[in-house]
Amino acid sequence: MKCRVCKQTAAVALPSHHTAFCPACFAAYFARQVERAVHNHRLFTPEERILVAVSGGKDSLALIHQLAGQGYNVTALHLDLGIPNSSGPAREIVAAFCAAHGFTLRVVDPAEMGLSVPEVKAAVKRPICSVCGKIKRHYMNKIAYEEGYDALATGHNLDDEVARLFANTLRWDRDFLGTQGPLLPAQGKFARKVKPLCRLSEFETAAYCFLHDLRHGATACPYSKGASFTGHKKLWEDLEQRSPGSKTAFYEHFLTHGKTAFAPLAHKDREPLQDCRICGAPSNLETCGVCRIREQVFAVKEKAGADLCGQGREAKNSL
Ligand code: AMP
Ligand code: FES
Ligand code: ZN
Repeated sequence: MKCRVCKQTAAVALPSHHTAFCPACFAAYFARQVERAVHNHRLFTPEERILVAVSGGKDSLALIHQLAGQGYNVTALHLDLGIPNSSGPAREIVAAFCAAHGFTLRVVDPAEMGLSVPEVKAAVKRPICSVCGKIKRHYMNKIAYEEGYDALATGHNLDDEVARLFANTLRWDRDFLGTQGPLLPAQGKFARKVKPLCRLSEFETAAYCFLHDLRHGATACPYSKGASFTGHKKLWEDLEQRSPGSKTAFYEHFLTHGKTAFAPLAHKDREPLQDCRICGAPSNLETCGVCRIREQVFAVKEKAGADLCGQGREAKNSL
């Protein structure tokens, strides 16, 4: 197969674009897609400071590498979630990557603040992935807002966005359908959120990392098995195979037609937000969701401690 642009031997075939590229032309194509996302959706300008959430996976490594390559002012943020056999290696990958490329790295340790994901999983009776997502969004926003970054960028790609949009559509969730997209403007204590990889697929970010020799983490989160997004992604992969370009059409047409229809309805019935009495984060109750989770974790720990003391006393008395 030949590269569509320069006719050299192609390294990456992209059926959804009916094309193939050699490594150099793929790099140019990738950069162009990011430029288009940034420009079309007015995500940020070269003068602004961007906090890039870097998990150690292929998407966020490709994102910060590409934005820095385009001359943007980027700082990396990594959250260590305390997941055994997963968080440690991810943190090492991010630290080594940032050191090798000269990126400033901020590491935040929710575990140190009483929010290690295994402890949260034991204390909270809801699906851990959504609770973990809430904790991640809380700390990402907190750092971006409190430290005055102009935007918080995540590595969500086209497949992530399509799977999320599909899930939101299945529920006709007007709050999400009115706000989902590559740009969520800053509001009150919420920092601006941007997704510059929204035009690129998971395959394309993997190819980018491979061709640039970026070593990324490969191990999936041990708790992600059976997550609904994984099922939705498989459905869309199937559709894309049969009808190349479906994902892009679904997402781009949503942004131009669907979102505008839902935007006036989004969060219509939401109570005004207040500052969390503990951490000051925006919240619809007196205490924000993350501080409530922390309280649940403490309560479970305290009970376990009290039970242990009780058992110790009983054992002593029976001697
Ligand atoms: P996920 O929700 O795991 O698919 O991740 C989506 C995006 O969120 C990633 O591309 C990162 O930008 C960001 N992200 C996820 N986990 C972390 C983490 N532990 N630390 C920093 N950023 C993260
Ligand atoms: Fe949060 Fe898996 S990364 S539950
Ligand atoms: Zn709080």
